[in-house]
Amino acid sequence: MPQEDNYVIDQMISAKSIAARVESLAFEISDYFKGTDKLVVVGLLRGSFVFIADLVRELDLPVEVDFLETSSYGDGMESSREVRILKDIRGEIAGRDILVVEDIVDTGHTLNHVVKLLQSRNPARLEVCALLNKAARREVDITARWVGFEIPDEFVVGYGIDYAQRNRNLDHIGKVRFIK
Ligand code: IMP
Repeated sequence: MPQEDNYVIDQMISAKSIAARVESLAFEISDYFKGTDKLVVVGLLRGSFVFIADLVRELDLPVEVDFLETSSYGDGMESSREVRILKDIRGEIAGRDILVVEDIVDTGHTLNHVVKLLQSRNPARLEVCALLNKAARREVDITARWVGFEIPDEFVVGYGIDYAQRNRNLDHIGKVRFIK
């Protein structure tokens, strides 16, 4: 098992590229939900907090923001595959348009669980926007309508995403590389 301090971070996606992509995603999402007066943006804590903050400010729609937290990787790098809700959303969503915002779709278990849970509450429409997609790692059949970047099977940090709770405050996405 690698030591948590024995690593460097190699830049994968620059802050500038992220900003440009967030702008174009927001444009597409605003167009898709055009005319809605009831979009609830549901961010999955904690990894999506930076992304959701930037995304909602670019949306040309009336939005409400809510958050949901699931059990995570803990401080490790492997998915537990067992998803538990640690914090549910506050608002009612029946009949409302929902945009779920996720940082990374990896095995897909988290998103699958959350989408099923929210669908059971009968929203009008429910779509997903994920900043990053690791398609090679998928174990369940779930896709996000909008994906910021397709990435290879690497462990990444930054722009809200952590390794052992650190590096969330990096302005770019980097990949973790272990050193001796
Ligand atoms: P999934 O259930 O396997 O799709 O895992 C999704 C969650 O695992 C994401 O929301 C992240 O919190 C976490 N995760 C997946 N890949 C990474 C990574 O490369 N770095 C940090 N967290 C990750």
